[in-house]
Amino acid sequence: MALTKVGVVGCGLMGSGIAQVCAQAGLETWVREVDPPTLEKGFARIRNFLDDGIAKGKGTAEERDRILSAIHGTTRIGDLAPCGLVVEAVTESLPLKHEILKALERAVDPSAVIASNTSSLSITEIAAAAERPDRVLGLHFFNPVPLMKLVEVVRAIGTGDAALETSRGFVERLGKTAVVASDTPGFIVNRLLVPYLLDAVRLLESGAATREDIDNGMKLGCGYPMGPLTLLDFVGLDTTYFIANIMFEEFRQPQYAPPPLLKRMVLAGRLGRKSGRGFYEYAPRT
Ligand code: CAA
Repeated sequence: MALTKVGVVGCGLMGSGIAQVCAQAGLETWVREVDPPTLEKGFARIRNFLDDGIAKGKGTAEERDRILSAIHGTTRIGDLAPCGLVVEAVTESLPLKHEILKALERAVDPSAVIASNTSSLSITEIAAAAERPDRVLGLHFFNPVPLMKLVEVVRAIGTGDAALETSRGFVERLGKTAVVASDTPGFIVNRLLVPYLLDAVRLLESGAATREDIDNGMKLGCGYPMGPLTLLDFVGLDTTYFIANIMFEEFRQPQYAPPPLLKRMVLAGRLGRKSGRGFYEYAPRT
């Protein structure tokens, strides 16, 4: 059956982006947050992105209004009942993800797909709390969700073919490309990206080059859209530190071990763009 209604749990940086691209694709989208102010913050993020797009000539006020009106905010998971696919995009806490999974299973149809946007937790471990683990998988989006063209579809040990195919169709509907990965730490992208980002910090820490020269080296020498230290600020140093620790714990290989400078910057609250300072300084958004 074709998807018409989808749900998103969590309207933070990733959840709001996922809700936006679902609505842009013409899907009726239900997004759940814990309270109205947090929900409103998520809607404001979507509105700002669409307004920026209008300023860049990438959309119209009518399109913005149509997208925003296709997104229904709620604080009740039960309101996601009619959704054929739900993406959970809450903080990286296994107990919280288990709690949400159980609530979703009570709410939605037995045929609905339940996906997690986790970048660091095991989908198999998340699915362990499910009554029907065959409908649980990972749908890992990239930041900024409306601009990044990839979604990793992560198949856990118990994921069924039906959930996988529905999810592939969903990603295609969003105008993005799906790559299928098995449930190993970092999936495809972070497995390669995280050691690279950590190596950039090690290079800086060793005094081999300045932050600007490291970033320009990879940006201009390899054609990457951002240098690694700029990208670390963009992703969040705390997020990268968290993912790296989980990967190191699983693989026990030095390339995943977060370097001391990264840990100290996180301890000092230099988390990147979100805190106004990471490897670079950022003016608050007006
Ligand atoms: N609405 C519509 N379109 C917009 C837009 C908006 N609000 N903002 C930007 N765009 C469009 C621009 O018009 C432009 O389109 P064209 O190519 O057609 O001209 C395009 O998006 C690029 O935008 P900009 O030129 O303004 O900005 P940029 O060149 O600096 O690109 C970026 C911004 C897309 C973020 C780019 O820097 C980039 O790709 N950076 C790398 C991001 C990345 O690696 N993300 C993954 C992080 S890892 C992760 O998320 C996973 C994890 O688990 C940690």
